[in-house]
Amino acid sequence: MAKVEPFPLPNELYPEDWFSRLRSEDLFAGDAPVELDLGCGDGSFLVRMAEHFPGRNFLGVERLLGRVRKVSRKSSQAGLTNVRVLRADSNYAVEWLLPHGFASRIHFLCPDPWPKKKHAARRQMCRMDFLSALHALLAPDGELLFMTDAQPYFEEAVEVQGGCPFFAREPWEEGDFFYAKTDFEEQWLAEGRTMHRLRLRKLPHG
Ligand SMILES: C[S@@+](CC[C@H](N)C(=O)[O-])C[C@H]1O[C@@H](n2cnc3c(N)ncnc32)[C@H](O)[C@@H]1O
Repeated sequence: MAKVEPFPLPNELYPEDWFSRLRSEDLFAGDAPVELDLGCGDGSFLVRMAEHFPGRNFLGVERLLGRVRKVSRKSSQAGLTNVRVLRADSNYAVEWLLPHGFASRIHFLCPDPWPKKKHAARRQMCRMDFLSALHALLAPDGELLFMTDAQPYFEEAVEVQGGCPFFAREPWEEGDFFYAKTDFEEQWLAEGRTMHRLRLRKLPHG
């Protein structure tokens, strides 16, 4: 007989209404800072950060069910109550679903690089509408942290950010502060690739 999966999965955030914006209290109880990990994959980063910072909450967004299940399994087996995962397309989640001003930090780590010209719109960090939606999700003074091994994607993101009046770039070198490794980062570093980092501070909308 086919195994019946629990629904929703442990630590899964499953909105009652997919067409209304969530409220902060729908994500986590209490008022601890919340960090958002877009395209969280199997959740290693999320779980490591949640273990390191028990006083913060961590929400992952991931579109692949198998990966969402892994995040659910890993975080619940670790006994973490400060992790939740939302199975959704990140474009939809940031534009329509997540509460404005709820996130102290947004992590966008090792996204697919989409190198072809015809896929330019999929390089989310190079789209002003996407940056504007992330800006709306951040609390005052919040941060957006982007990391990629794809140099062309990184350079384009830096160029776009240069013309963006509502984020200011801040320095970010490896080791500046505690930052857990992601699955893809570990894999790419082992292959000898270099990671490029962009740290942006929210400015009031100009
Ligand atoms: C290259 S992996 C990186 C995973 C993780 N951030 C890491 O560094 O290990 C990119 C992840 O983003 C997810 N993803 C890609 N596009 C997405 C989208 N539009 N919405 C939600 N997740 C997406 C993929 O399914 C995949 O798990």
